[in-house]
Amino acid sequence: CGIVGYIGLNDTKEILLNGLEKLEYRGYDSAGIAMLNEDGINLTKVKGRIATLRESVDNTVHATMGIGHTRWATHGVPNEENAHPHRSASGRFTLVHNGVIENYQELKREYLSDAMFVSQTDTEIIVQLIEKLFETYQDSAEAFRQAMSLLKGSYAIAMIDTADPDNIYVSKNKSPLLVGLGDGFNVVASDAMATLKVTDQYLEIHDQEIVVVNRNFVEVQKLNGTVVDREPYTAQIDVSDMEKGTYPHFMLKEIDEQPFVMRKIINEYQNENNELKLDADIRSAMQKTDRVYIIAAGTSYHAGLVGKSFIEKIANIPVEVHVASEFSYNMPLLSDNPLFVFISQSGETADSRGVLVKIKEMGHPALTMTNVPGSTLSREADYTLNLYAGPEIAVASTKAYTAQIAVLAILAVDTAQAKGLELEFDPMQELAIAANAMEILTDQKDEIEGLARDYLPTTRNAFFIGRSADYNVCVEGALKLKEISYIQAEGFAGGELKHGTIALIEDGTPVIALATQANVNYSIRGNVQEVVARGANAMVISMKGLEQDEDAFVLPHVHELLTPLVSVVPMQLLAYYAALHRGCDVDKPRNLAKSVTVE
Ligand code: G6P
Repeated sequence: CGIVGYIGLNDTKEILLNGLEKLEYRGYDSAGIAMLNEDGINLTKVKGRIATLRESVDNTVHATMGIGHTRWATHGVPNEENAHPHRSASGRFTLVHNGVIENYQELKREYLSDAMFVSQTDTEIIVQLIEKLFETYQDSAEAFRQAMSLLKGSYAIAMIDTADPDNIYVSKNKSPLLVGLGDGFNVVASDAMATLKVTDQYLEIHDQEIVVVNRNFVEVQKLNGTVVDREPYTAQIDVSDMEKGTYPHFMLKEIDEQPFVMRKIINEYQNENNELKLDADIRSAMQKTDRVYIIAAGTSYHAGLVGKSFIEKIANIPVEVHVASEFSYNMPLLSDNPLFVFISQSGETADSRGVLVKIKEMGHPALTMTNVPGSTLSREADYTLNLYAGPEIAVASTKAYTAQIAVLAILAVDTAQAKGLELEFDPMQELAIAANAMEILTDQKDEIEGLARDYLPTTRNAFFIGRSADYNVCVEGALKLKEISYIQAEGFAGGELKHGTIALIEDGTPVIALATQANVNYSIRGNVQEVVARGANAMVISMKGLEQDEDAFVLPHVHELLTPLVSVVPMQLLAYYAALHRGCDVDKPRNLAKSVTVE
């Protein structure tokens, strides 16, 4: 979910709506805003997107303070009642929330047994609880503080007290929230992107701090009342990076940006003598560790699978890759000197953060690889490696995935060099070759669109098969297709398909096979024959040098360790065109959110 708030002298409506549009990547199943003026609270809530909210907001209302929310449903279906902001029974308090309150049942039992609720959300409990505590303390700030001290779970909250038009009350725990500073106004946002149009000065809020946001000042306090003095920072985001330009979709723009992101990474991680320049502390952490634990979710997890082979093959360190949400509750036996590497485009994924908090308590070192250096995972880890991919807006991740792979390669190479291991290739030159190959591929959109039409026209399902490095890309290719076209797709290890899943192959079932690895070229082609013999419509995507006449598409040649950087590009484009041909909302697929800040 995404939160935005404004208090100042100007009309708040447009600032809130604009901010929410920028936050839609965090969820877009329902939305709402509350504005306060001398007539009281004006509340608009809708099921659907910000565009629908925009149509429903009363344009005649003028207010200089307000809060807004775009939702990704956790408790309660997406509808108007469950949309935020939520109000207390008397209507005095109005609040937006991102996160999950774990003890909401207990709080309801203990404090609110006689209260009436209009929604099925855990959020309504918070606002009712504040009202209940107000009866005791007769002071909104104190009621807010007391309520925050009772909450267990994750939250980012902004609250308006109808009787106090001068302040917005804000707090957070685990979920991201920032305060933006302006001249005569201040803002609150889940992400600086939301309010970059009005300010680039931001103040971090730490967990369990309470912030009073007035139009002229901001006061940060710890839960116990101690005042915190903190310097603001300048958000380093280029506003133009957040626009689509002439592209029909952000996803297509971001696919096209990949060669440039590669070149940016090459530049950022090298000094003028073309030597790698990684933080010396990261280098020494990598040298000290006896096992790297990569923790991630979704596409970032898939990048981690590729990273494992880099770190093992290039730097000679064993690596385990874990899905964050599983690791948290089923921790494997750890080695003596583990190093945790968190891979996260947003740096905010709650599942990954859950692991970070646990392993920090255990005293283990952590490195975060993220596209958002000031994000929670970056701040809370010991070290950060920046992905330099620029803002990724489309929900389906593309350029962040390839950026993660490139930075993982650089990390592996840097470690190998620090350990004095001989490399048989020039890694940065190979990365530059891969960047060129990606550019060749992004120029071949018409061919790939044709393949999407031929192989994925009305199909219900599709399989991606590959071996070794190709298998890692197949799981990502399948995820891309699932996410945006809703075709049920699975990525399988070529040799494993026959052990069960081949039962699903019918006449015409699309099977997309990757063949970029010389040592498995023969065996993957055998697997293709097995599915063809059972009626599959097989498409082989091979690499130059390994191609055969019947292959549907041939990738430019790159170093065999770096093939994921290029083989994923046609996968991304296939998914894009398959979704487009089906009339799907490419940038905002159903049920998803780009940044999931609940566990
Ligand atoms: C969400 C997104 C995925 C993303 C995953 C991890 O589920 O929809 O596209 O891969 O979160 O996000 P992160 O920001 O941690 O890479």
